[in-house]
Amino acid sequence: MARQGETYFKQYDARGGLYKQAQTSSPMRDHRRAFRAQFDFSLKGKRLLDAGCGYGSDLPFYAKRGAKVYGIDPSTAMIALAKQSHPNFPNLSVQPVQKTAFPARSFDVIASIYALHNAPDLRQAFRELHRILKPNGLLLFLVQHPLFVFLLKKNPRYHGKAVVKFTIPDMKPPCTIVQPAHTFSDYFNEFVFDRFELLTFEEGKEAVPLWFLAKLRKRGAPR
Ligand SMILES: C[S@@+](CC[C@H](N)C(=O)[O-])C[C@H]1O[C@@H](n2cnc3c(N)ncnc32)[C@H](O)[C@@H]1O
Repeated sequence: MARQGETYFKQYDARGGLYKQAQTSSPMRDHRRAFRAQFDFSLKGKRLLDAGCGYGSDLPFYAKRGAKVYGIDPSTAMIALAKQSHPNFPNLSVQPVQKTAFPARSFDVIASIYALHNAPDLRQAFRELHRILKPNGLLLFLVQHPLFVFLLKKNPRYHGKAVVKFTIPDMKPPCTIVQPAHTFSDYFNEFVFDRFELLTFEEGKEAVPLWFLAKLRKRGAPR
């Protein structure tokens, strides 16, 4: 039997269509605007992976800037929706971020919005992202803010493993997703800083920030 941690994405198999409907019918939110603003460098000729691309809302943004775009998501339904919405993107496949089939040093840039926090083991995810990035390649990710996640906890101990329930805004009928609760030190720790240099950090401006983003550069080799 699959461990629960390996199956968080299955919720998107069941609800992907409704998620796409809710997202496409609401205006672009601050988090996506802030994330896109990070692409202040040329993507021309760069190989870019959207890790956890969902139904593919950001694929055209990267392609318009000249990137050769790849997308992965462990949800079969999400990848089916992405292929349906973007038939001109041939490189979309069903794969989780923590174990991909890409050769080492495949990508110049990896981008990931609201997906990485679903990975139960972030160390494994960072190890894999590091493996498939080229030296000096960029990793940009945006995830749920650990403070927001902390307030969803039934037993409010910041440290300690837990799963939380989160209701995605604007979805009708309301959609509650179960996901692992990560702390800041799951993202920023010696293991990660051995492999990546932190270039940018930004967090949501909401009363309780919903998200944070980070831009990291892969170091030549772990120190
Ligand atoms: C909230 S959606 C975001 C999708 C898309 N990036 C967007 O901004 O619309 C979360 C996505 O993360 C995906 N996901 C869940 N677990 C994942 C994992 N281990 N690796 C990569 N993606 C994952 C889900 O299948 C889902 O498509």
